[in-house]
Amino acid sequence: MKILAKKLIRKLARIYNLRYLFSVNKDNSLKAEGLLWRCKITCKGKGNKIIIKKNALLRNCHLVIYGNDNLIEFGERASCHKGEIWIEDDNNKVTVGDRTGLCGKIPLACIEGTRIQIGEDCLFSSDIVFRTGDSHSVLDSEGKRINPSKSIIIGNHVWVGNRVMIGKGVEIANDSIVGMGSVVTKSIGEGNVVIAGVPAKICKKDINWSSKRI
Ligand SMILES: CC(C)(COP(=O)(O)OP(=O)(O)OC[C@H]1O[C@@H](n2cnc3c(N)ncnc32)[C@H](O)[C@@H]1OP(=O)(O)O)[C@@H](O)C(=O)NCCC(=O)NCCS
Repeated sequence: MKILAKKLIRKLARIYNLRYLFSVNKDNSLKAEGLLWRCKITCKGKGNKIIIKKNALLRNCHLVIYGNDNLIEFGERASCHKGEIWIEDDNNKVTVGDRTGLCGKIPLACIEGTRIQIGEDCLFSSDIVFRTGDSHSVLDSEGKRINPSKSIIIGNHVWVGNRVMIGKGVEIANDSIVGMGSVVTKSIGEGNVVIAGVPAKICKKDINWSSKRI
């Protein structure tokens, strides 16, 4: 029964992923070993790569790239439902690690040659916003821009609660939890912590978490 189900899923993957061949022109590439289900791809530019590894599942997602030499990669058995990945400019990278699940409406915006790197075994709830840049300029009194875009790095086994916002330059270490409704504006160097609030700060140390209700 299990083998039959797996065969069926692989067949569906082949049929459904064929549609996307026409969304990506010859200057860009799509390598999908996993399944893209009712997704939309907009890819304008050259040298962009989209890689969906084995047994990954993307449902109702929108992948948008405007620029050159960008990368979107989902690891093995990663999943994403209603995600929107928005890339502008060149040399950006959005990578989602093996077995990581993005469970609800999640816009990930990556601009100006930055990275959104999400580790393995992470669990993201819904309505989470990631932005590596502000989209517009903040200027000092001499007209110099003072808000450069910066990469966001999320470690392995990080649980991000409902309605969290994560801004440019944030790094979150392994085995941590980000509490619901938090706005994370600074890196949290320490792992095994609960961070929460606006702006987010460490509220508990020496913790871990499990997706099972033990
Ligand atoms: C992060 C979370 C798991 C922590 O739970 P917990 O370990 O039981 O933490 P506590 O309730 O003991 O809170 C510890 C402290 O952090 C504060 N805190 C916890 N969550 C907070 C939040 N989201 N925002 C601000 N402060 C928060 C508490 O007020 C408390 O502060 P105090 O020490 O001053 O009293 C929980 O608060 C949370 O956000 N759960 C929602 C997860 C979610 O979105 N799930 C969706 C399914 S994926």
